[in-house]
Amino acid sequence: MALQMNPMTPDVGVEISGIQLAETDGAELEALQNAVFEHGVAVLRDQVLSPEDHIALATRWGGIDINNYFPLEDEYPEIAIVRKKADQQTNIGGAWHTDHSYDQIPAMGSILVARQLPPSGGDTLFAHMGAAYDALSPELKEKVEGLRAFHTADHVYSPDGLYAQTDMGSDLRGQEMKTGAIHPVVIRHPRTGRKLLYVNPAFTIHFEGQTREESLPLLRQLYDAATLEEHQCRVVWKAGTVAIWDNRSTWHNALNDYPGYAREMHRITLSGEALGAAKH
Ligand code: OGA
Ligand code: MN
Repeated sequence: MALQMNPMTPDVGVEISGIQLAETDGAELEALQNAVFEHGVAVLRDQVLSPEDHIALATRWGGIDINNYFPLEDEYPEIAIVRKKADQQTNIGGAWHTDHSYDQIPAMGSILVARQLPPSGGDTLFAHMGAAYDALSPELKEKVEGLRAFHTADHVYSPDGLYAQTDMGSDLRGQEMKTGAIHPVVIRHPRTGRKLLYVNPAFTIHFEGQTREESLPLLRQLYDAATLEEHQCRVVWKAGTVAIWDNRSTWHNALNDYPGYAREMHRITLSGEALGAAKH
């Protein structure tokens, strides 16, 4: 069966059927990549993907970034484990964010494989930052034109950071890491050329040349625009589901609504490329 694509919503998300990722290569891989670049996230069902297959797919895609903080699979250090145990309260990624924006060359995206799911809940929301940018008022577009912003993960993962104060803290690594990068607030997608809003509530601290306090009013306006439900889709996981997303063009939010149940996902982070500012 040939590859079929069904958009999940007009702005973000595409369900792809008719392929097995363990074998995807050549023109089929290129079609899959273009779908991820265009729709922001692709969802594939009924996949049979061993850890070796997962690594091989990411390698064919174009290379792997190792996450600094998440526990790694013992035998496969390329695989980060995104796990909430049945007795834990805190989950990973349970607020709107895009991964690795604190890196100089942020990761392109991720291939997330469902390994253990709660009986219900644990969906992941995605929002498209191209649609969010397009919907900004002309005044806001003008305000953000040419701005740059500072991103870091230190306040999230450091010994006195957000996770350290939760029951997820002791599961994470890299508390001593120091990160920081300055990126344009509006970037152009390196492959599609589309303008994208590139700030996020988890890792963006302030605009270049402004304090946090000076930056917050405009940041909040942009975050409100970015989280409008009309630019979102919801990934409902089932056994065998794999999602592949683009960190440049989307945010995601892992819903934490399954108390008392474990959830475990395997993530491989795909290497990215330098980001350029969007000029008119
Ligand atoms: C991630 C993440 C979402 C999820 O792996 O980066 O945020 O649904 N996970 O587990
Ligand atoms: Mn994430």
